[in-house]
Amino acid sequence: MKIGIIVHSITNNTYSVAQKLHDKLIETGHNAEIQRVSMVGGDRPEGKNIELENPPDVSSYDALIFGGPVHAFSLAPAMKMYMEQMGSLQDKKVALFVTKGLRFEWTGGTRAIGQMKKICQSKGAIVMGTGIVVWNKQHDKKIAEVAQKFSNLF
Ligand SMILES: Cc1cc2nc3c(=O)[nH]c(=O)nc-3n(C[C@H](O)[C@H](O)[C@H](O)COP(=O)(O)O)c2cc1C
Repeated sequence: MKIGIIVHSITNNTYSVAQKLHDKLIETGHNAEIQRVSMVGGDRPEGKNIELENPPDVSSYDALIFGGPVHAFSLAPAMKMYMEQMGSLQDKKVALFVTKGLRFEWTGGTRAIGQMKKICQSKGAIVMGTGIVVWNKQHDKKIAEVAQKFSNLF
């Protein structure tokens, strides 16, 4: 199964989770690759005048993992824009994760996952699992848990 890990990341927290997921998926016998959602002119947190640079194509993957940071209690604008614009996910299995700075999952994490879920389902995907990684002392443990969980989904 070819799995695409598609992430947007400004300070590389989300990207580093993607790398760990990638390694775990390869270790468990999957074919996985990471693609970044980037903005023309460099990644930045603003939500205005976003133009995406070579947005990743979802069509060549059997399954997908989407990841992004929480910004202002929601999914980061560039990732939301990318997901709204991406092609069909009809009958593809997907998993979703976000990274965030504030301690509790409900300070944006739950909402961002809900936004991603809604977009994926509207494009025909089957959402298999989700994860929220709070960037604190415990984040390595949480990343390992999410990697373990996701490696059993596909
Ligand atoms: C503009 C901005 C808004 C943010 N808003 C939130 C927020 O509402 N809730 C939260 O938990 N973290 C928030 N954060 C923290 C980021 O979600 C966190 O640092 C994340 O891991 C960054 O991911 P990245 O390194 O992949 O860009 C915010 C960060 C920025 C830059």
